[in-house]
Amino acid sequence: MCYAIPGKLVEIEDSIGVVDYYGEKRRALINFANVQIGDYVYAQGGIIIRKISEREALEVLDAWKEMFFELKQRDSDLAKVRTTKVSNNVLNLFEKINKNKALSRNEQISLLKSKDPRELQLLYECANSIRQREHGNACCIHGIIEFSNYCALDCFYCGIRREKNIERYRMSIEEIIESAKYAVDALGFKAILLQSGEDYWYDNEILISVVQELRKLDILLFLSLGERDISLYSKLYEAGARAVLLRFETSNNAIYEKLKPAKKLKNRLTLIKDLKRIGFVLATGFLIGLPDETDEDIINNIELTKSLKPDMYSFGPFVNAKGTPLYNHPMVNKDMMLKIVALSRIMDRNSNILVTTAFETLDINARREGLLAGANSLMINITPKKYKNLYSIYENRAGISMEPSDDIEKTLLLLKELGRAPIDLGVLFKG
Ligand code: 5AD
Repeated sequence: MCYAIPGKLVEIEDSIGVVDYYGEKRRALINFANVQIGDYVYAQGGIIIRKISEREALEVLDAWKEMFFELKQRDSDLAKVRTTKVSNNVLNLFEKINKNKALSRNEQISLLKSKDPRELQLLYECANSIRQREHGNACCIHGIIEFSNYCALDCFYCGIRREKNIERYRMSIEEIIESAKYAVDALGFKAILLQSGEDYWYDNEILISVVQELRKLDILLFLSLGERDISLYSKLYEAGARAVLLRFETSNNAIYEKLKPAKKLKNRLTLIKDLKRIGFVLATGFLIGLPDETDEDIINNIELTKSLKPDMYSFGPFVNAKGTPLYNHPMVNKDMMLKIVALSRIMDRNSNILVTTAFETLDINARREGLLAGANSLMINITPKKYKNLYSIYENRAGISMEPSDDIEKTLLLLKELGRAPIDLGVLFKG
């Protein structure tokens, strides 16, 4: 099983390496790996994580070679804008997008409000073609291990909030390491996200030792631990973690304070910025469909994400979670999600955009349609089976009953169908 393609390091300028994938060049940070020009490497999230032998590399490259060019062709065919017969006003708007001119707030809102199927189709096609121009057919796939559903917070939307009476679990250090090793050695993952509620049982010492141990696997280690101390995050960076996922949840201060008791948006944003400053690859974003949220808020959410200069956008719909204050709050629909994927792509053209599990929960075709509306990144849940359904941040989570190997197979088939290849997306270099 292989869903990361290695490349050849062809140039080094300071700490940046140029990696060649069948003639296509992408830049990646030389961070841990001791590499030289001519080496074959794996990169993830724009970081060279591992050097591999020429023999191993050529085996994988040979296996992908023919398919790689087929995939590229398929992707560029699928990324053509085909929809016509929309009003002149709408055509003018898309002309503007095509010319890379910034949309006004009214134009952004009008796209968000649109219900015309042709107009929406054109929006998704346009976003997909921008994705293709910016990133080619690269698509990254990360594995996620949810290692604890204990949480010190009481967020109104969340199914693992402290007040809720659910069966709780914590994976031991050994279990976390064993699951990660299995994901890397048996399943072939090169990037792993460790996620939990805000669980202080995992103190500095435990988290540092887990990271030090996982560092030995030569992967991109992604952390999603909530608002832990910046000094702890610094230590985790030193120990070898290189990426963090921390959403700001909403740009609307009043909604934030209403739904996250005793928490301040300002503090969360400071932490997110500090994490970026430390050097972490940053994934951030927001929830969609919270009570009292307006279209303006949604556009503000995209703008705020953009201003944080993330390496990856992670946003998803609010999904009902039993026994929470928001259980009866209505959810947004698939088209709203797709419009936000497409608008994010248009408003931040070279961003990386994840199709999240909540989106997949909302709609069974989310992966496919999200990837065709501007997204270029996916996650696969590799939490051990006995814990997976206990991480119930909302109901009926997508993929919960699927074995990781089946999910991987299904994902690879989808990528093949859409012409996407699992090569690293490279460094974005945003100022
Ligand atoms: N629906 C969708 N996403 C949720 N999250 C928490 N609760 C829900 C819910 N009910 C998201 C939050 C958090 C991430 C780990 O999970 O955005 O940042």
